[in-house]
Amino acid sequence: MSFRILGTGSALPATTVSNEDLTKFLDTSDEWIRTRTGITERHVMNDEESLLTLATAACQNALEMAQTAPEEIELIVCTTLAGDYTSPALSCLIAKELGLSDRVITMDTNMGCCGFEYGLQIAHAYFASGMISKKAIVVSAEGLSRHADWTDRATCCLFGDASGAVVLEAAPDRKVDFDWTVSGNADILNITRHADNSPWNSYDGKGVLHMNGQEVFKFAVSSINARICAVLEKNGLAPDDIAKFFLHQANIRIINSAIHKMGVAPEKFPHNIERLGNTSSATIPVLLDETVRAGGIQRGDKIVLCAFGAGLASIACLLEY
Ligand code: COA
Repeated sequence: MSFRILGTGSALPATTVSNEDLTKFLDTSDEWIRTRTGITERHVMNDEESLLTLATAACQNALEMAQTAPEEIELIVCTTLAGDYTSPALSCLIAKELGLSDRVITMDTNMGCCGFEYGLQIAHAYFASGMISKKAIVVSAEGLSRHADWTDRATCCLFGDASGAVVLEAAPDRKVDFDWTVSGNADILNITRHADNSPWNSYDGKGVLHMNGQEVFKFAVSSINARICAVLEKNGLAPDDIAKFFLHQANIRIINSAIHKMGVAPEKFPHNIERLGNTSSATIPVLLDETVRAGGIQRGDKIVLCAFGAGLASIACLLEY
């Protein structure tokens, strides 16, 4: 059994922070950030917001579009770098807020910016195994403003907070396939853990993001094309067969490089990096939701989602919408 996307949803924090706002406490400029990244503003959570409030709103939007009652959901996979609590898992809390059954399968998964596609892969395996037979939610909820080092101008200006969700329905004849790689490299991109007070451990980490931007950039531009070509080739498809490519939104120059390398019309690569920055695993489901609501893809269209990031990991997912 395979699946199809029945509904999409997304939610953004109310507060927007422009590049100009960042210049009040960072040695940076709107011009530098815009020309190097394409980003003009990002949304960040305030004290009244949490990953739970964002993710719940994104799921509710997706359930509404899918015309699905909460009790129909058999599985909810939440992808996040870190939930509001280390434990319990964010998916358990979202399940309660949505009023899902107390028998729903809940799990959080952390595959960095590739999380949403890994979440789809997990849901796919549950449908294929027969462990679930009707409907599932995959929701990505990310609070990068909590992980960024706001004293590091080279990284903090890139990120924002968001949540995006999809409701999936079992569908026997829908094409779904993946291609992925992982290398186990923590040097180029990592978020250290916070200090603890174990008497047997002197670790004093600050829990912030560290990145070698140029190395990530090189990894991104090579892996996007490799993953997309691999998943298309496996399925006997060419780029022209694909209605839209949804790339992880990390840098407009990375997206433009992929467009150039693939030789595909730029209109096939929607982007919202300008308004939202990099929201890790949430970039693709939010972009998907915005595109669906704008009528940018039609039922039956073949689409490719492709992400890269911490791991270092990269993944492409081919879907029939
Ligand atoms: N404002 C002003 N200057 C800045 C700056 C900022 N926000 N950030 C860095 N600089 C400076 C650097 O200090 C450096 O100055 P120097 O030449 O005097 O040393 C100069 O700008 C160039 O820095 P560099 O790191 O070479 O810039 P870059 O062109 O590689 O762009 C990134 C930096 C981070 C935008 C780019 O490497 C990138 O987007 N990488 C991929 C990141 C990514 O996708 N991460 C997410 C993975 S999921």
